[in-house]
Amino acid sequence: MSGNTKYSFSEVKKHNDNKSAWVVINNNVYDVTPFLNEHPGGEEVLLEQAGRDASDPFEDVGHSSDARELMVKYKVGEIIDSERKPVKEKHSDWSSGSENANSENTLKSWIIPIALGIVATIIYRFYFLSY
Ligand code: HEM
Repeated sequence: MSGNTKYSFSEVKKHNDNKSAWVVINNNVYDVTPFLNEHPGGEEVLLEQAGRDASDPFEDVGHSSDARELMVKYKVGEIIDSERKPVKEKHSDWSSGSENANSENTLKSWIIPIALGIVATIIYRFYFLSY
């Protein structure tokens, strides 16, 4: 199984019991079946969320960075692009690499105004020079 496989929510929904339990956390798909017995928060809470997007309950618990490291080994894939949900920015998310996403956004938020400025300057100069 590769961590880069893309799944839709209808596929994830099929894995909703203790024979096969998948949860979606921040657009990543985790097969937590082997982890059910080991979860410090109990099997019940995981089964309750099995087959669904558990990002909010997962974040609400305030899982430690140890928990975030641990979950990596249960990752089986990601949600297909068209069904991805915006990831809420929360405390301690630095451990999941959102820093890169942030600098990307900052870059994008600069490029657009700068590009508009250049276009406006060209248009202005074009009119100014043609009279
Ligand atoms: C792959 C997914 C998950 C992993 C690896 C994981 C791991 C852990 C770990 C290591 C802890 C111990 C405390 C800590 O280190 O933060 C914990 C506690 C807990 N987890 Fe999870 N968890 C996962 C998903 C979930 C989900 C989806 C829920 C849904 C509500 C949940 C609910 C809880 C609860 C209620 C506790 C107990 C908190 C406490 O007693 O203070 N976990 N989990």
